[in-house]
Amino acid sequence: MQEYLELPPLSIASGQGGWLTSTDGRTFLDGNASVWTNVHGHNDPDLNAALVRQLGRVAHSTMLGLTHAPGAELAAELAAEAPEGLGRVFFSDNGAGAVEVALKMSFQYWQLVGKPEKQGVIGMAGGYHGDTFGAMAAGDSGFFHERFKPWFFPADHFPAPRCEEWAGRVRSADAGESLARLRTLLAAQADRTACLILEPSVQGAAGMRLQPPGFVREVAALCREHGVHLILDEVFVAFGRLGPLVVCTSEGVSPDFLCLAKGLTGGYLPLAATIAREEIYEAFLGTYESRRAFFHGHTFTGNPLAAAVALENIRKLRVLSAAGTLQERIDCFGRLVDRTFPGRTGVAGIRQRGLACAIDIAGEPRRPVARRLGLEICLRAREHGLLLRPLGDSLLLVPPLCLGEAELGELVARTAVSIDDVFSN
Ligand SMILES: Cc1ncc(COP(=O)(O)O)c(C=O)c1O
Repeated sequence: MQEYLELPPLSIASGQGGWLTSTDGRTFLDGNASVWTNVHGHNDPDLNAALVRQLGRVAHSTMLGLTHAPGAELAAELAAEAPEGLGRVFFSDNGAGAVEVALKMSFQYWQLVGKPEKQGVIGMAGGYHGDTFGAMAAGDSGFFHERFKPWFFPADHFPAPRCEEWAGRVRSADAGESLARLRTLLAAQADRTACLILEPSVQGAAGMRLQPPGFVREVAALCREHGVHLILDEVFVAFGRLGPLVVCTSEGVSPDFLCLAKGLTGGYLPLAATIAREEIYEAFLGTYESRRAFFHGHTFTGNPLAAAVALENIRKLRVLSAAGTLQERIDCFGRLVDRTFPGRTGVAGIRQRGLACAIDIAGEPRRPVARRLGLEICLRAREHGLLLRPLGDSLLLVPPLCLGEAELGELVARTAVSIDDVFSN
């Protein structure tokens, strides 16, 4: 907060497409899609209309014992997009919540099928699943969560694979050590392990750490072989960020639980979903007295306004995808990244897949990390009309999916000039 108070305040008054306007009248390109949520842009007429239509019916009604049309329709659409066998949708209202639900369902499932000893959790190094306790314990976010470690449940972490890729070309990759360590871990303790949780394809909050193609498939096969649930956290990667609506389908992987949030409502409203496999759902069925029920719920679970907007978001995304527009934008972004950042002074690393990119900034000996180059560059970017957030000394470029070629060009050019500003000083 002290730093926030010291920096010039920036209050957003309105948005249009990929742009945000501040209360003092400046416009900014939304280079991090309002924390990785925005899909079709701000103030989208179709999403607005869907929201207003639902407002005229009912703004909120509980899913505790009742249901409503937008919630039921959305559950059906999500089940249609999820891999075969995942058809049971549990709504919550943020990504961390969706992960907590998956973890708790996994723990309870093993109790219900008479294997209460399966309690362990495996996560991947660098994993980020949110800031609630289960999500923090399963994740591995270094100093971000370290302070709360005494209250975590125990979890084991295996190393992440390495993969450098941009413009659709893998430059180097190695998953050997990662998979070998996972095999050892599972061989030793699968009978005491409930689940493994992973962000498939890209670990966003770790700095767009990429996995080589086929990696998730190998992890899924190992989980199946050892009878350990696979939870795929697609909170960041789903809804077109990497191209597909749901990433695991494109990898040919069917997890036991799939967690969705962020882009689910196109970045309009808080909504999340945990989609479970049919046999998991069935294990929870029983009389009230049998106490098999999943006693978990959030007041605004499956909010009808959010569900109505999510339905329209999915309809629009399918159109964007079928027309090939989304892939064109992804290809264009890759070309721009390739043309702009390799070899540029200050740039030490590049990772890009889909509409997600990390540019690692090098601290030269004269420019130690303590100078916080990432923050400095992002503050310069504001002066160039671009909103970015640093992650340490990496810049994360996560544009709304609505940006066309010219706007993607602006995003990359304004980022480059902000880097140049700092390195020429
Ligand atoms: C992969 C992943 N999982 C979970 C979360 C947490 O989502 P939320 O902030 O909605 O709780 C995030 C947030 O960045 C995320 O990237």
